[in-house]
Parts: sequence; C-alpha cells; structure tokens
Amino acid sequence: MTMPRLIKSLQSLVKKVIKHWQIEGLWKTFRVIVHVFYIRVFYTHGVEPFYDWCWGIQTRGITTSEQLGLTDPQCIRYQPVSYGDFKRVMKHVKVRAGEDVFVDYGSGKGRVLIMAARYPFRKVIGVELSAELNVIAQANLERTRKKLKCNNIEIITSDARQYSLPTDVTFIHMFNPFVGEVLVQVLQRVHDSLLAAPRKITLLYTHPVNFEPIAPQFPWIVKQGEVICYRVSKCAIYECMV
Ligand SMILES: C[S@@+](CC[C@H](N)C(=O)[O-])C[C@H]1O[C@@H](n2cnc3c(N)ncnc32)[C@H](O)[C@@H]1O
Repeated sequence: MTMPRLIKSLQSLVKKVIKHWQIEGLWKTFRVIVHVFYIRVFYTHGVEPFYDWCWGIQTRGITTSEQLGLTDPQCIRYQPVSYGDFKRVMKHVKVRAGEDVFVDYGSGKGRVLIMAARYPFRKVIGVELSAELNVIAQANLERTRKKLKCNNIEIITSDARQYSLPTDVTFIHMFNPFVGEVLVQVLQRVHDSLLAAPRKITLLYTHPVNFEPIAPQFPWIVKQGEVICYRVSKCAIYECMV
C-alpha cells in the first residue's frame, strides 16, 4: 500500500470510529474496535498462519478469479474457511465413525478436507474446478496424512456442475463456492443423488448469503440451526432429505 493510500485509509477509519462513537457511545465503539482487532489482526495474521505452520501446509490467502482463470462470474475465488469457524461448526454435528462420507464443494487448497479428515469419516472428497489449486491441496494432504483419522481422501478436478454426487455421501460443506445458476444446478445434482438413494445429508453452509434468498426453492433442504462465525457472518446447518 502506498503512503497516500495508507493516510487516506487511516483518515476514513478515524472518521468511521468517531461516527460510531457519536451514534453508539464509547463502550460499544470500544467493543467493536476490540472485536475488529481480534479478527483482522490477531486471528488473520496470528492464529491462521499459526495453524498452517503447525500442520506444515499452505492454505492461506486469497487467489482471485483472474489468477485461477475462472471466467464464469458465478464461480467464486479461493479463500479458505477459518480454522476456528469450521471447528466451531463441527461441534454441532455428530459424525458416525466409519460410516459418514464428507464432500467439500470447491475444496481449494484442501484446508477443509484436512480439517474434516481429523474426524472419523469413512471418506473425505474434495471437488475443485482449479487443477492448480488441487496440486497444492494434494501436497498439503501428503504432509498431513499421517496425523489424520480418515485416510481415504480423494481430490477431484471437476466443475461441480458435472460431478455426480456419490450415493453414500452424507455430509456436504460449501463455503460460498458458487452462486446463481451454478449453485442451482449443483443442488439439483444433490437432489438427484438423494432420489437415487434416499438418506439424510447434513449440509454445512459457511456464509450462506447467496443461498438464503433462493432457499425457498428447495423445500427438501431444511434449516436446523446456525453457528455464529468470526471471519464470516455464520455457518448454517441444513438437513437434506427427499
Ligand atoms: C471460497 S473458496 C472455498 C475453499 C474451501 N472450501 C475452504 O473453505 O477452505 C471457493 C472455491 O470454489 C472453487 N469453485 C468455484 N466454482 C467452482 C465450480 N463450479 N466447481 C468446483 N469448484 C469451484 C474455487 O476455485 C475456490 O477454490
């Protein structure tokens, strides 16, 4: 960031703080500052790199659509889910050891795959459009494999729209990987899989801002609850059944 831009950002930040102070009072403003500091500085630059370092992997950072060569604006760039947020959500679900099968749609550099494989899933699958990200994910997996509970991990390079969801999948995770028509088509594939083999699928949807407005179109996806997250708004937990 250049010096003039930094000064401009600081000026705008100070203005925002003063405005917030005038409207909400000193105590609330102080709490917001502490919260923002915790998330932006401590969490993003402290905790997240620490976890990557502990695992010996590289999953941080944003890879833009241009860098990934994603031409469809409905397919979203790479940004990993927060370690803490995913762990928090997993406390609200029960994994049947050796039975449940987990899929992360848009698995990126494999952070969620590694986190999920710490639970006793029978299989963990990543579906990712970018072959480049999958090379990184594979390298990350090789470095952590010995420390994981589930060793049956598969990474598939595919557009999620073309991927036939296996009939034994019982957990799905999405961190806002696609929106609009792409999302609708992928959910249609989930529905097809349910029709082929009726069962319950738990859908963990991190930051479901693009799903919530269209959720009424999918009466077979029923909300069970939501978990407040630090890095994004929330993760919603749904039950999918036909
Ligand atoms: C927000 S990132 C989520 C990364 C990972 N799930 C996590 O939580 O750490 C979204 C990912 O979806 C991938 N993606 C976007 N459109 C896709 C599609 N149509 N099929 C498969 N993957 C897609 C992007 O390449 C990106 O890696």
